[in-house]
Amino acid sequence: MRVLRGRVFYRGRVEPLDVGVDEAGKIAAIRKVIAGEEVEDHGDRLILPGGVDLHVHFRDPGLTEKEDFPSGTRSAALGGVTTVADMPNTRPPVTTRDALREKEARVRGRAAVDYALYAAPRTGASVPELSEAAAFKVYMAESTGGLQVGEGALGEILEAAAPRKKLVVAHAEDARRFQKDEAATLAGHSRARPKESEVDAIRTLAKLRGDGPVHVAHVTCVEALDAVPEGVTTEATPHHLLLDHTRPLKAFGKVNPPLRSPEDRQALWDAFAAGRIDIVATDHAPHTREEKEEPFGEAPSGLPGVATSLPLLLRQVRAETLSLERFVDATAARPAEILGVPKGRIEVGRDADLIVIDAREVVRITPRRVRYKCGWTPFEGMEGVFPRTVYLRGERVVEDGEPIAEGLGRRLSGNEA
Ligand code: NCD
Ligand code: ZN
Repeated sequence: MRVLRGRVFYRGRVEPLDVGVDEAGKIAAIRKVIAGEEVEDHGDRLILPGGVDLHVHFRDPGLTEKEDFPSGTRSAALGGVTTVADMPNTRPPVTTRDALREKEARVRGRAAVDYALYAAPRTGASVPELSEAAAFKVYMAESTGGLQVGEGALGEILEAAAPRKKLVVAHAEDARRFQKDEAATLAGHSRARPKESEVDAIRTLAKLRGDGPVHVAHVTCVEALDAVPEGVTTEATPHHLLLDHTRPLKAFGKVNPPLRSPEDRQALWDAFAAGRIDIVATDHAPHTREEKEEPFGEAPSGLPGVATSLPLLLRQVRAETLSLERFVDATAARPAEILGVPKGRIEVGRDADLIVIDAREVVRITPRRVRYKCGWTPFEGMEGVFPRTVYLRGERVVEDGEPIAEGLGRRLSGNEA
């Protein structure tokens, strides 16, 4: 058994503890002192569970000029994210069993962190052949990738997924509420795809939902949260929690659903900090600089964020605007539970996916630090706390903030813990 020592977040509290890791990379013991073993001592640094990000677009296969599995998972690791769930709007899209198997074969051995794969059923009839996917994604309106489904198909998909207990994640916008807006600004983009479109889509989802697990991706406002029915889980992205449409980002801040007003952002943050939103997920959706420099109307929607999610939120923990408990719950424990993977908590029997933090080490976010293939981040210049060391199933994958191991990531099937 290997032993990691530090100030460990265990059962809702921070205390000096030893964490024993077995050969299989599982947490085998948690005690004050585990005697007679070699110790990796992290002193007074914090040891937290690695992040679980249920919403990334690593663009592999087919769009790898934006990102690919090695680059996306490397960025995840250095930001303290040890599990990702990758979205199906690749080229080809993951809408058939063959596409899913091809993607699986293609990414195997090339991931720096553990990963789950989504599929996007287009009809209820395609649900059985996609059962090897960890979860399903449904687009209720057009966004990058053009995978939207109508209400009829959505109802069938939800009905077919429910008895399999397959998680269905919805991109909830209703195009009937979309408006033309020629302003070519982020505020204009928010008017073009307004808050009401989210509210209406969530109401549709509430109406069609059976008794299977359903999750609403990237809610941007409290009005949307208010429409979410009991039992349906929610996520917010770091960009909707920390950025608004007054930022001078031009199309680099263009995303679906859009960045909202400063007031909406603050209200969303307050709801998040108070525990009204289950998880944080990044919707890491990179596009190249060239694409984002196109005229506003033509530039694609989506922005990267997998490496900055935990660092930005840890900065808020340090500023005492977010509790450590809420942080761990939203970035690790709850997303692991929702996907059904044996991660997200420091508990005996769970995978030893751990991050080591020194909250005094506040740095400015730069494109260089996050290493995205696209070469930019909308959070440039903001402060973050990056992990010094990251363990994936007990193996160091990041040391001194630098990625040091690649290809150790394994596929997760979901619905297993
Ligand atoms: C996403 C992308 O680029 O893949 N874009 C976005 O604005 N969020 C697609 C999506 O999930 O909507
Ligand atoms: Zn989306």
